Amino acid sequence: MTEDEVKMGTTVYVPHSSCRDFRWMGDYEAVYRESVKDPEKFWENIASELEWDKKWDKVLEWDYPDSRWFSGAKLNITKNCLDRHVNSSKKNKVALIWKGDDGCERLYTYRQLHREVMRFANGLKNLGVRKGDRVCFYMPFVPEHIVAILACARIGAVHTIVYAGFGSESLHQRILDSQAKIVITADVSIRRGKRIDLKSLVDDAIVNAPSVERVVVFRRTQPEIELYAEMEIDYYDLIKDESNICEPEEMDAEDPLFILYTSGTTGKPKGILHTCGGYMVGTYYTCRYIFDIKDSDVYWCTADPGWITGHSYVVYGPLAAGATVMFSETTPDYPDLGVWWEIVEDFGVTIMYTAPTAIRMFMKYGEEWPNRYNLESLRILGSVGEPLNPEAFEWFYRVIGKGKLPIVDTWWQTETGMHMITTIPGDPMKPGFAGRPVPGIIADVVDKDGKSLEPGISGKLVIRSPWPSMMRGVWNDRSRYEKYWNDVPGCYTTGDMAVKDKDGYIMITGRSDDIIIMSGHNIGSAEVESALVENEAVAEAAVIGVPDSLKGNVIKAYVILKEGFEASEKLENELKYHVRMTLGPISMPSEIKFVQSLPKTRSGKIMRRVLRAVETGADPGDLSTIED
Ligand code: WT7
Repeated sequence: MTEDEVKMGTTVYVPHSSCRDFRWMGDYEAVYRESVKDPEKFWENIASELEWDKKWDKVLEWDYPDSRWFSGAKLNITKNCLDRHVNSSKKNKVALIWKGDDGCERLYTYRQLHREVMRFANGLKNLGVRKGDRVCFYMPFVPEHIVAILACARIGAVHTIVYAGFGSESLHQRILDSQAKIVITADVSIRRGKRIDLKSLVDDAIVNAPSVERVVVFRRTQPEIELYAEMEIDYYDLIKDESNICEPEEMDAEDPLFILYTSGTTGKPKGILHTCGGYMVGTYYTCRYIFDIKDSDVYWCTADPGWITGHSYVVYGPLAAGATVMFSETTPDYPDLGVWWEIVEDFGVTIMYTAPTAIRMFMKYGEEWPNRYNLESLRILGSVGEPLNPEAFEWFYRVIGKGKLPIVDTWWQTETGMHMITTIPGDPMKPGFAGRPVPGIIADVVDKDGKSLEPGISGKLVIRSPWPSMMRGVWNDRSRYEKYWNDVPGCYTTGDMAVKDKDGYIMITGRSDDIIIMSGHNIGSAEVESALVENEAVAEAAVIGVPDSLKGNVIKAYVILKEGFEASEKLENELKYHVRMTLGPISMPSEIKFVQSLPKTRSGKIMRRVLRAVETGADPGDLSTIED
């Protein structure tokens, strides 16, 4: 395909139509039309498939920019993820399959998972955790993590999961902001055969965090690390005498389910708040309609629970849909580049959901790795986190999908809770384009006043009406919530730039703010800058994303040194190390450039877009406000 064809959206891939025959709600156009004609009826029909202790009085109460979904309804999301299946023929169906970094395997049936969750829920209650209390997670990708997440939801505690790749300062900030009462962690996480000490990072993070009463530690290695009896308790000691019956807490549809922090345009991360009812409906719906999850599927999402993808599409959505969920601690290149494809063959994975950055890494090492394995069980491929560029699309389609399988390139955000734009399996796919809005979602590409733009013209990506799994707020920060709704009149602003084609397919072209999407992770320039200026040598810092063929973007920092300090490789390494230790390895700049000055507005704001333009040779745009 030529670049122009891709740009215009004229390159179309039509996959096997087999998934079309059994489509859950029907064909896209018809379902979409219905959904916008009567949105409340549309969402109500989906919600009615799930179990509620009490049905809603009203589907939607919309008081711009606040929405309440299914108000008056009572539920517990774990009843839908567990009890509903345990009380059906799925009782002994495998719910979770886990493969560890060292190759070990563990399986939980729905019955077993249900009991483990209830046991841990009782353990949490015994620690004094009550409905509404915040519980912070800093855990490796092991089954105990998922059990504990569901246990929180069982008793109505609000989980706030911090990805274990973040540093102690990031963890500290999140514990403070959420006022977490309990921290759940492990001695180590294991990556590529190496142990990464998590517990000592937690030790650092809870200093000067008085809200934390107890730390629960899952000890996975020998000899067992020592715990301080006053404050710390072993994961299995906590539950060894607990009963495996724990009635679910009756939750209001609008009660908080979790807070998940995401980067913003200031140094402080935003605690995105999701609630029980609408989030359950949105994640269940998209697992059924977009992933087409059926009873016989073995569904594998490679994301960690520390990200929204893990929340929605490892834990809540697929379990609500009664799937067999594969998950794994393995990195794609250890012990060798075949390990992921071996998982597909070994467990007969049918649906695989991963990130473009992983696909591009596999491309780099060649087709012979996946070609060594039998991938015939696969029937749907998915991508998330950043644009799936046409070259990566083509490779995924041809080498993994053997030119037969649908690829769903799902666009969504921590804030949206569920897929918002994608191609439905079986529909024509256009490389480079995520696809069309999911039924129930009104997405548009607009100018700054909210006017719809013609196909081919790039503008802001917005959502024009509320949806059940939308964020309900930013924890402790009303004004940051309102910002999402104040930018373009009447709309939710995504912060992404996009362009539509004549068929309504949407291509994401980048961010409009200072968020860097690197390997599908969302990193705030301001956060990295504040970490850099903590060093005594640094006067000022500006951080941008520089396009990278593997990671999408890499982080580059421009640093002005204070009088008396000299640029050196040693200092560069020291600064990188500092960011690594405070914010974590994912936020570490790949390059630091020492400069004498930075482009600024007259009011002193650093113009990162000018730096980006210099870096990429692009047009820097309007320079009338620049000082120097
Ligand atoms: C940002 C949200 C959604 C789960 C993972 C990231 C980018 C996400 C796509 C896609 C192009 C994408 C956007 C978005 N993004 N999916 N399919 N195509 N861009 O969640 O950390 O909240 O980041 O990721 O820029 O705004 P997140």
